[in-house]
Amino acid sequence: MAIRPILTVADGLSVLKQKSKPVEQVDDALRALMDDMLETMYDAPGIGLAAVQIGEPVRVIVMDLAKEGEEPAPRYFVNPEITWASEELFSYEEGCLSVPEIYDAVERPAKVKLTYLNYQGEKVEEEAEGLYAVCIQHEMDHLEGVLFIDHLSRLKRDRAVQKVKKLVRDAA
Ligand code: NI
Repeated sequence: MAIRPILTVADGLSVLKQKSKPVEQVDDALRALMDDMLETMYDAPGIGLAAVQIGEPVRVIVMDLAKEGEEPAPRYFVNPEITWASEELFSYEEGCLSVPEIYDAVERPAKVKLTYLNYQGEKVEEEAEGLYAVCIQHEMDHLEGVLFIDHLSRLKRDRAVQKVKKLVRDAA
């Protein structure tokens, strides 16, 4: 396992804006990528990460929604698809490892049903609500090249990108 650099909007948008490609096979090479993603996410620290955020535009997501003090509960999603979304919406203050230190409210369907392949390549069907629903929709946006700031006004989005660029510049 290895911690990989996470791309931010300060690195430019050419990779982050790509549409990720479907995975053809869940094999050891893919599991090695998922292991790296999980380690990278824990190190950041964050609760979700899409492969494109470490420069691998394939349809893979890792997530762990365990609270501090709870046992780690890693989840792996390969080729996830949303099959149903509630009309009821839910607003949550989101953040993103690719847009560090920026948080803003995004409104999304409160509940979704989804299918995906897990770490073993088995097909799973699930219903998600609460933070899980927020996080899976946020991460699945990454697979389409969409960032949470793309759901905000143009003014807020531009300001967020400028702030991250300054943050990166100041840290250098
Ligand atoms: Ni994100």
